[in-house]
Amino acid sequence: MASATVSSSTASPPRSAPAMSAKPWYVRVLQSTVGAKFIVALTGLALTTFVIFHMLGNLQIYLGRDAYNSYAQALHKLGPLLWVARGGLLICVVVHLGLALKLKRRNLDARPQRYVAERTKRASLPSRTMVLTGLAILAFIILHLAHFTFGLAPIATTVDDKGMLVNYRDLVDPKWKDPLDPRATRHDTYRMFIEGFRDPVMVGVYVVCQLLLGMHLIHGVRSALQSLGINSPKWNRLLDGLAVGVTLAVVGGNVMMPVSVLAGFIGTDVP
Ligand code: HEM
Repeated sequence: MASATVSSSTASPPRSAPAMSAKPWYVRVLQSTVGAKFIVALTGLALTTFVIFHMLGNLQIYLGRDAYNSYAQALHKLGPLLWVARGGLLICVVVHLGLALKLKRRNLDARPQRYVAERTKRASLPSRTMVLTGLAILAFIILHLAHFTFGLAPIATTVDDKGMLVNYRDLVDPKWKDPLDPRATRHDTYRMFIEGFRDPVMVGVYVVCQLLLGMHLIHGVRSALQSLGINSPKWNRLLDGLAVGVTLAVVGGNVMMPVSVLAGFIGTDVP
């Protein structure tokens, strides 16, 4: 009985082998743990790069209405390139989240219960809460797009000088004139920004979300560099410093702007 079992199992080739090799290379990369970690790291760093540049661009709010609206107008004038960037961002978010959740599930399924408990005690709070903070960032992005990009009422409405309700997306820069086309107008992104952060509840939500983003970044940036093989005893302190620096800059900048509006440091030119 035993020998029959052994001979049949050694004679037939593993059933999954031909099926695996028939899959395209990118499917095999995504299905392997190392490949998935690599892609999560790459997409995570791409999203971090976006967040850094988005924060730097937004800091122009301190330069006043004309500077900030010109910056927003220049971005919108990118036209098809802007849509390529938006598409790239969306792909990065979906792939990053999908693969990270898949890796987490695989990790939990593979671990005996006792080991999970031991690891939980040793791991830092940011590393233990990556899925939670990641989902919170997704919720923040949805709220943020509704607030500023899609102009979802009632969170994206204010009143004009006649007391009529006006959507953030319909605000027009009162000072701007196109030298070539007297009928042309441009969006008053500056006023949208200022009005958007005059609500203490909204500022509170943004601040809490930036702190959660910071928790995600401080572990995520370091871990992503490690997954990409950027890791050596010689460079580790520098890389730790880089993760802390990026996190402090992003959180600091993103918290400072809404708080500056609420405190009345900027935006006093918006009635
Ligand atoms: C306090 C911090 C932030 C401020 C003040 C801010 C401000 C803005 C503003 C004003 C817009 C609309 C721009 C326009 O209509 O021209 C915008 C769009 C956007 N923001 Fe933010 N943002 C902040 C944080 C973030 C963070 C942390 C993320 C990502 C995690 C993010 C992702 C986006 C995206 C994806 C868009 C849409 C861009 C597009 O139109 O394609 N923002 N943000």
